[in-house]
Amino acid sequence: MDSLPEHVARNRQAWDEWAKDFSPEGERCWKPETPVTWGIWGIPEEDVRMLPDALTGADAIELGCGAGYVSAWMTRRGAKVYGIDNSPVQLATAERLRAEHGLDIEFELGNAEQVPKPDASFDFAISEYGACIWCDPYAWIPEAARLLRSGGKLHFLASGAWMMTTIGTGANDGTSDRLVRPYFGMHRFEWEGCKEVEFHLGHGEMFRLLKSCGFQVDDLIELQAPSGATTRYEFTTPEWSHRYPSEEIWKATKVR
Ligand SMILES: C[S@@+](CC[C@H](N)C(=O)[O-])C[C@H]1O[C@@H](n2cnc3c(N)ncnc32)[C@H](O)[C@@H]1O
Repeated sequence: MDSLPEHVARNRQAWDEWAKDFSPEGERCWKPETPVTWGIWGIPEEDVRMLPDALTGADAIELGCGAGYVSAWMTRRGAKVYGIDNSPVQLATAERLRAEHGLDIEFELGNAEQVPKPDASFDFAISEYGACIWCDPYAWIPEAARLLRSGGKLHFLASGAWMMTTIGTGANDGTSDRLVRPYFGMHRFEWEGCKEVEFHLGHGEMFRLLKSCGFQVDDLIELQAPSGATTRYEFTTPEWSHRYPSEEIWKATKVR
């Protein structure tokens, strides 16, 4: 623990505590009959294509796999999957569900900013609210580039960049119709009295970071909460997220 970067150690503690609350959703999503959906609004896979069409035989990595259901989805589509996560308790859930469902997936405890795999090991890297919000983008995005083969794809779903300008620093602050923090310079986020640390960049900065790491940006999808949507998360509301994007998906290809 001492050798972990400060934010990684803090996030490990936080996720070890939260893991039990996320385990029922993990169990639901692991079931083969549960449709593949994304983010806090349950957007169907057909609408956003987070998973590439061709996964059969592909080497895939999930960066911050949590309970591991995205890894399960990729495995059932024919990929050979490696999932890394920083929380031993989250990984215990992933490992339990892997055994229950009889899938062959390699899960490993570790920091997605420094993955213990050789260069160019993967064809596809994915993160849904994993490394893409809990790791420092200036560390995990170069690491994802190192891990991907030329032509490999990186897809991630994270909090909407400019939603983050409307959330205050109070532990219970949620989205508002006011800009409460600067957009420029956005990077590390902490909340009063909370141990977790998150990271979010503005769109221009994220675009340039991806490009500087050898990626071509293929798409940026700003997700809109569908009419009548509900969520168990409290940092935003369906009404707010129907008007403004609370989540976004980036898709990039490693071109050099
Ligand atoms: C919301 S979960 C994402 C996984 C999955 N999509 C889900 O929703 O359950 C966030 C995960 O990121 C993991 N995480 C946080 N920091 C990490 C790091 N530095 N390296 C790897 N995983 C990390 C946490 O332990 C947690 O399991």
